[in-house]
Amino acid sequence: MDKHIAVIRGDGIGPEIVEQALKVLQQVGLRFGHTFHITDVGMGGCAVDRWGDPLPEEELKKCLAADSVLLGAVGGPRWNQLPGPMRPEKGLLRLRAGLGVYANNRPAKIWPQLADASPLKRELVDQGIDFILVRELTGGLYFGEHRTEGDTATDVLTYSVPEIERIGRIAFETARKRRGRLCSVEKSNVLDTSRLWKKVMHQLAEAYPDVELTDMLVDNCAMQIVKNPAQFDVLVTENMFGDILSDEASMITGSIGMIPSSSLGDGTRGLYEPIHGSAPDIAGKDLANPVGTILSAAMMLRCSFGMSAEADVVEKAVDAYLNAGFRTADIMQEGMKQVGCRTCGELIAGFLEKG
Ligand code: IPM
Ligand code: MG
Repeated sequence: MDKHIAVIRGDGIGPEIVEQALKVLQQVGLRFGHTFHITDVGMGGCAVDRWGDPLPEEELKKCLAADSVLLGAVGGPRWNQLPGPMRPEKGLLRLRAGLGVYANNRPAKIWPQLADASPLKRELVDQGIDFILVRELTGGLYFGEHRTEGDTATDVLTYSVPEIERIGRIAFETARKRRGRLCSVEKSNVLDTSRLWKKVMHQLAEAYPDVELTDMLVDNCAMQIVKNPAQFDVLVTENMFGDILSDEASMITGSIGMIPSSSLGDGTRGLYEPIHGSAPDIAGKDLANPVGTILSAAMMLRCSFGMSAEADVVEKAVDAYLNAGFRTADIMQEGMKQVGCRTCGELIAGFLEKG
């Protein structure tokens, strides 16, 4: 198969982690007879420096013309003083909206080899951490009006029934393919948008009798994620709550550098990125962990290109790499072999060839 991938290397550690994912994709191509055509897209701080715009129209068009988009990371302290519309993060928001990828899937799964890296007690970890957070990605506070007048600032939170329905359907479908449990997270004791959210989720539930729907207030959910993470299968929530809870969920797996994500809309084109940031403090030092990006590429193979066998092989290669005792600095443990970002990519590509 021939597939066109728009690649956004971005800022900080972005370029080095993406390079490793491309190495792995190239190996997949060789092994399975696919050709991946790469188009570089400028977005984030590097685009601000180059064009004075975090995502010029031309660059967005390249993403829209591709079969899928792979992203490293954007942002950094160098651009922190810029006004809102000029910030690297604004490029990311425009990209998400422009691609129409309203459903963001963030898995929180513990790798057995890294169980000791979790900050949770071992007995909690051993009960199992394996859930997916489905985050609404193109609505809510992020896309409401932002206004500052004198000493007052306003951000508007709006959700419509169709917006809640489409993310709800994705979440129910996800739960149906897993353990059949969906927890809808909101703040319905305070917010109108949350009361609407809850109502729509329960209306949808009638079409999914095989899925058990529960509700949870977001503050309680933040607590339950560290108290009893084994209770969760699929969580679904709005944009802002999902942003906060997904950082928490990644932390309990002990290895934010290992977690991939997919963002999908109605078609097969998706946006795939690790959930960590651009880590400017370690950029260019060959210290970053590229596994989150490599696993994001695997998700792309499975979810956008229908290449399940190929995705399985990449995930198995990561497993083999961990089993062989290799670790990047962020997850280094006693008795293991520390490797840099580049070597990590080469090793995983190597395991892929053999596996
Ligand atoms: C994320 C990030 C982004 C978000 C930022 C960089 C705008 O935190 O993907 O979780 O808040 O969505
Ligand atoms: Mg975030």
